[in-house]
Amino acid sequence: MEHRHLGRSGVKISEIAYGNWITHGSQVEEDAARACVAAALDKGISTFDTADVYAGTRAEEVLGRALQGIRRESVEICTKVYWPAGDGRNDRGLSRKHIMESVSGSLRRLRTDYLDLYQAHRYDSETPLEETLRAFDDLVRQGKVLYIGVSEWRAEQIADAVRIAGQLGLDRIVSNQPQYNMIWRVIESEIVPLCEKEGIGQIVWSPIAQGALTGKYRPGQAPPAGTRATDPSGSGFIQNYLRDDVLSRVEQLRPVAAEAGLSMPQLAVAWTLQNPNVSAAIVGATRPEQVRENAKASGVVLDQAVLRRIDEALGPAIVRDPERTSSPPRRP
Ligand SMILES: NC(=O)c1ccc[n+]([C@@H]2O[C@H](COP(=O)([O-])OP(=O)(O)OC[C@H]3O[C@@H](n4cnc5c(N)ncnc54)[C@H](OP(=O)(O)O)[C@@H]3O)[C@@H](O)[C@H]2O)c1
Repeated sequence: MEHRHLGRSGVKISEIAYGNWITHGSQVEEDAARACVAAALDKGISTFDTADVYAGTRAEEVLGRALQGIRRESVEICTKVYWPAGDGRNDRGLSRKHIMESVSGSLRRLRTDYLDLYQAHRYDSETPLEETLRAFDDLVRQGKVLYIGVSEWRAEQIADAVRIAGQLGLDRIVSNQPQYNMIWRVIESEIVPLCEKEGIGQIVWSPIAQGALTGKYRPGQAPPAGTRATDPSGSGFIQNYLRDDVLSRVEQLRPVAAEAGLSMPQLAVAWTLQNPNVSAAIVGATRPEQVRENAKASGVVLDQAVLRRIDEALGPAIVRDPERTSSPPRRP
């Protein structure tokens, strides 16, 4: 497993990270969750991503239990705040009150004294950015959080955060967590150039398009049982990738992966890692074999001819519009 700097910060993270959205505390039982975490650690994955909102806070608990007994210094634990983590009117968003309360819950559930990376899970248009950045900065000063980042923020929102932090002498964000894969490339035109300039790394989510880039979903066929597409909590999220026009394009990646000597999931993960602004690709998994397979994408270099063939194969299925990066206009 190779490691990369988290943006231009001093800390290094594994270039393949493991995330537990939809899986831990929901789609998979605890023993499968533990087996996936064990496989990740065994393959050198040291970076783990979760969120307070995943499985209604149960995902953090499962990850906390699975990492118990591991030398704390050997892993990087990343979580997030913004989406509702309770029923109360203040159990959401990026107010000072919710950030301070949510971090306490995350630390308790993850069984740790500090988080390596704390991320704003979306942009909160109802809280002044200065309030959020000051609360994050306080957490850094208190030692509860080592680095701060954001997720799915637009380029202008990231630019504002950098400017305000500079003016007020507050801790700077080191990362952004966007969706990024061979199909979903909306960060490339605005966010990546800005982040390269500002030393902010991308920790990208759904590098395999939630499983759609594995080739296991075939156009015109029902999705196989035991996959995200058939899971009650996951099926709604993956639907956009399961359109026949998209899947028939994905079929054309088969020979490209085979000739590169990679499986389809490995090609997908390796593709995201060719972008030097990517600090890590966060893979999800329901079985330890998937973790082991995906981890082999670390260190793979794809040559220009392969990259060109991928673009040709996917053609109009590729989404590039930067306007597709968005946060809810009001808090959920
Ligand atoms: N910041 C955000 O807003 C945000 C949003 C979403 C995700 N995330 C983060 O990103 C992480 C990864 O997202 P994701 O789970 O969508 O990523 P992904 O790696 O694109 O998809 C993971 C899913 O694909 C299937 N899969 C993975 N490897 C496979 C393999 N080798 N062969 C066949 N199927 C395979 C598995 O589902 P099945 O076995 O069920 O088919 C697995 O759960 C999340 O856990 C979370 O930490 C963040």
